Amino acid sequence: CGIVGYIGSQDAKEILVKGLEKLEYRGYDSSGIAILNESGLHLYKEKGRIAALREVIDSEQGARMGIGHTRWATHGKPSKRNAHPHQSHNGRFTVVHNGVIENYQELKENSLAHIPFSSDTDTEVIVQKLEQLVESGLSVEEAFRQLLLAIKGSYAVAVLDSQDTETIYVGKNKSPLLIGLGSDFHVIASDAMAMLQLTNQFVELLDEEMVILRQHAKTIKNLDGETIQRRPFQVKLDASDIEKGLYPHYMLKEIDEQPVVIRKVISKYQDGQGGILIDPQLRERMTMADRIYIIACGTSYHAGLVGKQLIEKIANIPVEAHIASEFLYNRSILSANPLFIFISQSGETADSRGVLVAIKQMGYPTVTITNVPGSTLSREADYTLLTYAGPEIAVASTKAYTAQIAVLALLAFDSIREKGMEQLYGINPFHELSIAANAMEIMINKKEMMEEVVWQYLTSSRNCFFIGRGVDYYIALEGALKLKEISYIQAEGFAGGELKHGTIALVEEGTPAIALITQSHIRANVRSNVQEIMARGANVCMITMEGSEERGDQIVLPAVHELLTPLVSVIPLQLISYYAAKYRGCDIDKPRNLAKSVTVE
Ligand code: G6P
Repeated sequence: CGIVGYIGSQDAKEILVKGLEKLEYRGYDSSGIAILNESGLHLYKEKGRIAALREVIDSEQGARMGIGHTRWATHGKPSKRNAHPHQSHNGRFTVVHNGVIENYQELKENSLAHIPFSSDTDTEVIVQKLEQLVESGLSVEEAFRQLLLAIKGSYAVAVLDSQDTETIYVGKNKSPLLIGLGSDFHVIASDAMAMLQLTNQFVELLDEEMVILRQHAKTIKNLDGETIQRRPFQVKLDASDIEKGLYPHYMLKEIDEQPVVIRKVISKYQDGQGGILIDPQLRERMTMADRIYIIACGTSYHAGLVGKQLIEKIANIPVEAHIASEFLYNRSILSANPLFIFISQSGETADSRGVLVAIKQMGYPTVTITNVPGSTLSREADYTLLTYAGPEIAVASTKAYTAQIAVLALLAFDSIREKGMEQLYGINPFHELSIAANAMEIMINKKEMMEEVVWQYLTSSRNCFFIGRGVDYYIALEGALKLKEISYIQAEGFAGGELKHGTIALVEEGTPAIALITQSHIRANVRSNVQEIMARGANVCMITMEGSEERGDQIVLPAVHELLTPLVSVIPLQLISYYAAKYRGCDIDKPRNLAKSVTVE
């Protein structure tokens, strides 16, 4: 979910709705705004996209302040009833909330047992409790502070009091929230992008802080009621980076941008003498580590698997890659000198952040690889490596993933420099990355080939297998995830050798499968696995690399360094998913049930 708020001299409605459109990537089940003027509070909400909300907003009503929300359902199904903003039972307070109130049930059943609730959300307890505290005689500010002490869990909240047209009450714990500053206004937003058209000056809020926000003043306090001073920072992001231009979908634009992104990573990490520009302290941490733990979710986790391979093969350091939500509650035994690498496009994923907070408490060094400078994971880790992919808008990640892999490769190469081992390899990583960028471009220019694969294999099937061995297995996992996410075809990635131990039972006449071979030392093994499934009726599309190809392979990738093949082999898989989703008429940039950035655990 994402929230916005505005208090100033302009018409709040348009600012809020535009802000929500920029936050739609965080969820798009339903949305709503509340505006407050002299005639009272006006509430608009609708199920579905922000476009649906626009339809119901009364263009006559003007207001200088308001709050808004776009939802990714956690408690309560997507509906108008569960859409934010929510109001207290007598209508005095109105709230928008991103996060999860873990003790909402307890509050609802105990201190709020006699209050009528009008939604199924956890959020509603916020305003009901606030109203109860105010009715008990507290000032609104004190009641808000007491409220934040009473609720447990994650929240970025903004509250309007219909009896006060001067103030927005704001609170934050675990969910991201920024305050934007202007000459005659203040805004709040879950991320800077939402308000970039108004300001690039932002103040960060930390966990368990609240803000009393007025047009010309803001007071940040901790939950002990002490005032906190904090300097603003400037966000350097060009709003035009977020436009899709002539492209039909952001996803296609972002797929196309990948060679440029890799070249940008190269230029950003080159130190001028051919060396890698990485904080020397981090380099030392890398070389001192006896084991690296990579923590991530979704596509970033798949980049982490490739990172494991890169770091182990190049730097010879043992690496474990873990899904954040698993690691948090099922931590593996840690080595004596671990280093933690968090990979997150958005830098906001709650599951990953949960692990970061726990690891910091244990005192171990942490690095975040992220696309968003100033994001929560970046601010909270000891070191940050940026991926410089530019804003990624399509929910299915493409350019952020390949940029993460490029940065992981540089990190791995950089640590052998410290060990004085680079001679052993005789590899110039920048040179190899630029060869990979060219190969990516060649594949991007062959889009009709991937469209053809869709026609041939995926128009009528409900499922698809992806197989590979070694690093190609990790790409198979990512290819399957992409296809599932945007085309809703049931797809699975399998290690080639493992098929015969169970999954092969699923193979029927005509089952589509995509086999990857980029590693010459296992090409014969994968070809045998392909034979095994073809013998049982599978319809196999071969994606191979020059050096491992055979006559008849459907797609042959230009050769690149063996360690960097993922950068190239994933391109056809991204494009196949794109065209499969297009063929099926799916909403490519905003697939059902998903959100770009999941800020709840
Ligand atoms: C969400 C998105 C995925 C993404 C994952 C991790 O689930 O839908 O596409 O890979 O979060 O996001 P992150 O920003 O941490 O990389």
